[in-house]
Amino acid sequence: MPSPQSAAPHPGVPRHLAVIMDGNGRWAERRRRPRLIGHRAGARAVNVCIDVCLARGVEALTLFAFSSENWGRPEEEVGGLMKLFLAALEREVDELHRRGVRLRFIGDRDRFQPDILARMRDAEARTAGNTSLHLTIAASYGGRQDIAHATRALAVEVAEGRLRPEQIDEAAVARHMALADLPPPDLFIRTGGDHRISNFLLWQLAYTELWFTETLWPDLDATLLDAAFADFANRERRFGLTGAQIRSAQAGTDASPSADRIDA
Ligand code: IPE
Ligand code: IPE
Ligand code: MG
Repeated sequence: MPSPQSAAPHPGVPRHLAVIMDGNGRWAERRRRPRLIGHRAGARAVNVCIDVCLARGVEALTLFAFSSENWGRPEEEVGGLMKLFLAALEREVDELHRRGVRLRFIGDRDRFQPDILARMRDAEARTAGNTSLHLTIAASYGGRQDIAHATRALAVEVAEGRLRPEQIDEAAVARHMALADLPPPDLFIRTGGDHRISNFLLWQLAYTELWFTETLWPDLDATLLDAAFADFANRERRFGLTGAQIRSAQAGTDASPSADRIDA
């Protein structure tokens, strides 16, 4: 009997949550403040989101912080965002480590300044053995770029004679995509009122449940995340199968121990 791609060990809570943190600029503009004030408030909301995920037993959290397209914003905003990013790394990593969070980054690192890059590497190395929450920050990330990189890696394997073209299947592509060692996101949340993916995890979101809210990212609180989790808990994920097939697979799963947590 086919089984769902990932089972949530905590009933109703996604194992892997992916978030587009949108609306910082509008949050500030509504207050007649510079957009960077909104980004600063957005950094505080990141902590709220992490707190709730730790409290509710979410195992993996992937946050879209800066897209490959966001480099095209005015120089002043990009520069301000980079300063905020560096400051957040300096301020938050000790505490995340203390709380057992493993921190990693996905995206094109070549575009970051050396001081930010060094902090990113250091944070990843220090927290590599942690397991309470697998936190991934997508920065300078684009879903199309992710697919292009995976394609290039496969082409190199073929060119070097390590892979035959007929061996390229979904599993081979998946091995080279970002987040390859995590189950795909169960739930996707986008704040800020827009209903689009904006080049986030194009491959990985194939069967993710999508949830949108008008709330702007800096206004995020536990009540909003719990509302998303409650909605998620009531969805029937069919993965292309029939409802009857899914229900009988779940009846079988309920009798057996729940899936292991994600390893470090
Ligand atoms: C999301 O907020 C943060 C980044 C893209 C860096 P925005 O800056 O996109 O905020 P809005 O959508 O303009 O309100
Ligand atoms: C998506 O938001 C990227 C991040 C939140 C980091 P954008 O604000 O860049 O997306 P669009 O431009 O509204 O599609
Ligand atoms: Mg936006």
